[in-house]
Amino acid sequence: MPAHIIDGKAQAARLRATIASDVAKLAGRGIKPGLAVVLVGSDPASQVYVRSKAKQTLEAGMASFEHRLPVHTTEAELLALVTALNHDDAVDGILVQLPLPPEINADSVLRAIDPAKDVDGFHPINVGLVATGTGGIVPCTPLGSMMLLRSVRAELSGLNAVIVGRSNIVGKPMAQLLLKEGCTVTVAHSKTRDLPALVRTADIVVAAVGRREMIRGAWIKPGAIVIDVGINRVTDVAGGSRLTGDVAFAEVVQTAAAITPVPGGVGPMTIACLLSNTVDAATARRGNRAPG
Ligand SMILES: NC(=O)c1ccc[n+]([C@@H]2O[C@H](COP(=O)([O-])OP(=O)(O)OC[C@H]3O[C@@H](n4cnc5c(N)ncnc54)[C@H](OP(=O)(O)O)[C@@H]3O)[C@@H](O)[C@H]2O)c1
Repeated sequence: MPAHIIDGKAQAARLRATIASDVAKLAGRGIKPGLAVVLVGSDPASQVYVRSKAKQTLEAGMASFEHRLPVHTTEAELLALVTALNHDDAVDGILVQLPLPPEINADSVLRAIDPAKDVDGFHPINVGLVATGTGGIVPCTPLGSMMLLRSVRAELSGLNAVIVGRSNIVGKPMAQLLLKEGCTVTVAHSKTRDLPALVRTADIVVAAVGRREMIRGAWIKPGAIVIDVGINRVTDVAGGSRLTGDVAFAEVVQTAAAITPVPGGVGPMTIACLLSNTVDAATARRGNRAPG
């Protein structure tokens, strides 16, 4: 029987509706959560992401502050903006869109963000809190991936999880979240030997590589849950383009129990989780009182 297709688009829409309702309750207390997004340069993919984040922020009833800086912005200028946003009471969340131009040290910029406003969850304080399972702001893509996973399997304890990819923004935080759930976690990367055999041991496969359709159907244990984080743009023969994941969907759907599609899986959840993190940051900054 083909796998259940996990509908990230629908789940993200439901999450955004909950967020909008929370934002309306906060408005009754005179609180309007605000998200500041900073974009340096004119990378086309980043422009699309920033536009979409701003649109969804406004649709949820929150305040959106967009800062588009020219590509020759210096690190000092960017740090000055981050400091100003840290001190701006209307701003609850700060997101600096990556990648930054190579002349700017991204680590220095991410460390300059107030951890309480670090809604991307990339500041070392949040990374440490998440790693120790003691709180912190969870990065949006792993957070959304966990929600999708839980929508098909509430109890994850004891399952074998293989994450392919060890980036700081996806693979590593995903490993921490799955460990916290009681999974036995293996993180694979470009030096991993016999990846197909390793993936075959997994009850949960998370693909975060950035290589189109690398994970094949024959690698998947029957009944596994597959979360495809990859976003790869493919140009077809007619010159058009489409998005595809890191998983060979048509093959894997025959073996897995459940799978996220690309597009329409993890992607929509990422922005919804960004909004959710911003509302949480807004309430946490005001003494942790939940909306309502
Ligand atoms: N849906 C979303 O909202 C969302 C959000 C973020 C990212 N993404 C997508 O997710 C994918 C991964 O993003 P990322 O930022 O985590 O990428 P990244 O920083 O480039 O990391 C890729 C990881 O894949 C590993 N890798 C590369 N080739 C491999 C191979 N042949 N076998 C096994 N592992 C291999 C790398 O190993 P090494 O460490 O050894 O080099 C690295 O750990 C991309 O397609 C990205 O566009 C989607």
